[in-house]
Amino acid sequence: MKKVFLETFGCQMNVSDSERVATTLSARGYEMTPMQSDADVILINTCSVREKAELKLYSQVGRIRKHFEKKPVVGVMGCVAQLEGETLFDKIEGVDLVIGTRAVGRVAEALDDVFKGGGQVADLGEREPDYDWDVAEPQRHSPYVAFIPIIEGCNKFCTYCIVPFSRGREVSLPASEIVRQVLELRRQGVKEIHLIGQNVNSYKPSDESGLESFPGKTPFSQLLRAVAATGIERIKFNTSFPRDFHDDIVDAIEENDNLCNWVHLPVQSGSDQVLRAMKRLHTVDRYKSKIDRIKSSPRNIALTTDIIVGFPGETREDFEKTAELFEYCEYDMAYIFKYSPRFGTPSFKMADDVTLEEKTARFNELEKIQKRFQTESLSRYNGKTISVLAEKFSAKSQDDLSGHSTCHRVVNFKGSARMLGQIVDVRVTEVKANSLYGEAV
Ligand code: 5AD
Ligand code: SF4
Repeated sequence: MKKVFLETFGCQMNVSDSERVATTLSARGYEMTPMQSDADVILINTCSVREKAELKLYSQVGRIRKHFEKKPVVGVMGCVAQLEGETLFDKIEGVDLVIGTRAVGRVAEALDDVFKGGGQVADLGEREPDYDWDVAEPQRHSPYVAFIPIIEGCNKFCTYCIVPFSRGREVSLPASEIVRQVLELRRQGVKEIHLIGQNVNSYKPSDESGLESFPGKTPFSQLLRAVAATGIERIKFNTSFPRDFHDDIVDAIEENDNLCNWVHLPVQSGSDQVLRAMKRLHTVDRYKSKIDRIKSSPRNIALTTDIIVGFPGETREDFEKTAELFEYCEYDMAYIFKYSPRFGTPSFKMADDVTLEEKTARFNELEKIQKRFQTESLSRYNGKTISVLAEKFSAKSQDDLSGHSTCHRVVNFKGSARMLGQIVDVRVTEVKANSLYGEAV
């Protein structure tokens, strides 16, 4: 049996694609292995959002070629594969297979072709909708947590972003299919599902079956209500796009205990001028009014975001507005990125005029603010009892379990194997830099 090692970079869409690839390959007679050195096939699921992520691919293939005696088949999947296509065969020596984001369903066929002596194989074809994805024997990062893509691609074309080019136009799965998957996963013992997509709240299926019971609401909040009605214990969703984030999403959370207390709403900048140059389609004021609704909820919804510093033309004043907006929103956590020009995006043609030194200074300044708010946010749980899904043993200690709270905080706690897969009450006894520690009560 041929052994396959699969490594994943980037967002949850890639994690989800990798899980599906692993499931398909296992069903087709391949064996997934956690040992790279043991593998007949090495698949790398790539990310192209920032240059650093892309450079990782180049160094990695180089390393495989240098250090591996048994020459494995090397396959590149994901966004770099979709964007670069067959040119990867020339750019990186030692690549045998290129599988675009739209062809992940056909990895097994492509691998079979390589082993049949088909030489280098590339498949960037149209993606088949995942309607009939078989959730029977999934390979997932946890048996109790599952990702369900509800919308593929992106139509927004923010000027810095490569995703609309690498993942193509938005396609929403029918709600009836999503609900079917949730019910099947629930039957298998999954406790928490994540509805994922680049912009989940731009969800708009062409076929509205499954949403009829919730008239007068926006399609995404209808979907949330339909999924909540399945009775699955926990539902999380990300990422949301500010312009399409309507109040009825918060209403849905308030009406359903199984919709978790967490919203990830990337703002990118706190300056209207920069937001315009980014073509983000929202202003600071409009964004703030959405935050006001979220913060006014008695559900105590955790709020996280993404921010880019050093976008072309960003002045010190613009940056300070971002810092001010951070203080206003009191984010529980934020991912901060230094702007990285991506070839093929509209902003690639703008002068990358903020020096790396200045980008780093702004990054560090904002990171300080983010750490302060993160610590404050975590400290509020000290001494409190919170519910945690026990997902796995902690990597550091066999006496500890690890999982997430409803507001998506990592919580490690003293517990036993019989708790795995259960939602456990944990009393928080210690606040760490990025996580909480406690004991089951
Ligand atoms: N440079 C820096 N950060 C970027 N992101 C997307 N494109 C770029 C880029 N060219 C960030 C955004 C997005 C997150 C996933 O990655 O903040 O929300
Ligand atoms: Fe990229 Fe903007 Fe689409 Fe998000 S909404 S994936 S940042 S283009």
